[in-house]
Amino acid sequence: MVFYYKGLKIVIYLLGMRETPESITIGGEEFFYEKILKDDFFSVNVLYKSEGGLRYVLKLSDFRFIFGVFLRPLAQFFSRREYRIYEKIKDIPGVPALGPRFGKRGYFHFFIEGITLHEYKGVLPDDFFSNLKEIIDEVHRRRIFYLDLNKLGNIIVGTDNKPYLIDFQVSVYFKPVKWFFIGKVIDWIFNKLIREDIYHLYKHKKRFRSDLITPDELSLTKRTGFNKWYNLLFGQPYRKVKRLIYPSGSNEIIWYKWRKVKDKSKTMP
Ligand SMILES: Nc1ncnc2c1ncn2[C@@H]1O[C@H](COP(=O)(O)OP(=O)(O)O)[C@@H](O)[C@H]1O
Ligand SMILES: [Mg+2]
Repeated sequence: MVFYYKGLKIVIYLLGMRETPESITIGGEEFFYEKILKDDFFSVNVLYKSEGGLRYVLKLSDFRFIFGVFLRPLAQFFSRREYRIYEKIKDIPGVPALGPRFGKRGYFHFFIEGITLHEYKGVLPDDFFSNLKEIIDEVHRRRIFYLDLNKLGNIIVGTDNKPYLIDFQVSVYFKPVKWFFIGKVIDWIFNKLIREDIYHLYKHKKRFRSDLITPDELSLTKRTGFNKWYNLLFGQPYRKVKRLIYPSGSNEIIWYKWRKVKDKSKTMP
């Protein structure tokens, strides 16, 4: 990690900071380090490519600030948690194939050639949002509340023009509960919460393909009473904390804020 301070370049190599391998074998094929995809305070995403042209992403959880090294057990916890959720949905078309774990804080998943919705310019295909809804419905059927759908950086428009969903870091799995009454209450909460995912789905549709949105879908772009409360108690505080750290509008969260480099993008992903 490199810090710039008053013109002096101070290089600080925090204990084992770059532990990404030069190459890795997945499914009998060797993949070589290509480049860093995204590097922020919480994780680093590294791209690997095989001779045959296939690519995998290594997502390594890390608290990448001074003394972050002491939070490694927490990074391990988050990475394992994300992997467990990913395993429950890895066979859904539209979720990139899951690769092996790497160490205690990392895992590989297939790289989708394309562009995130955050950077996408142009007109999305007519069936883009119905395809995305199929992915999200299937995630919900497996009792997972995705939770991060407001972030356009988590939706990829593949070169095949199809949607792909990544990043299950904050998703929540609702384990089925046997006791009838408690089970019913938990199901009720789950069904209310997943409305938040649907809300974001149609907000995006309204933004990208408002010409195709139906009146029913439009009514879902308004939050219900429950979701208003949810947003007030969790959504807004979460975004406020995030904005304190991340420069407004940035998807590629690097060190802009600290290095005073002006961020050019307009909207928060
Ligand atoms: N499997 C993938 N295919 C294509 N791009 C990816 C993939 N995984 C990550 N990326 C790129 O890296 C970015 C960050 O990945 P993500 O898993 O969302 O991490 P974070 O938790 O840091 O948001 C994405 O917005 C996307 O640009
Ligand atoms: Mg993300």
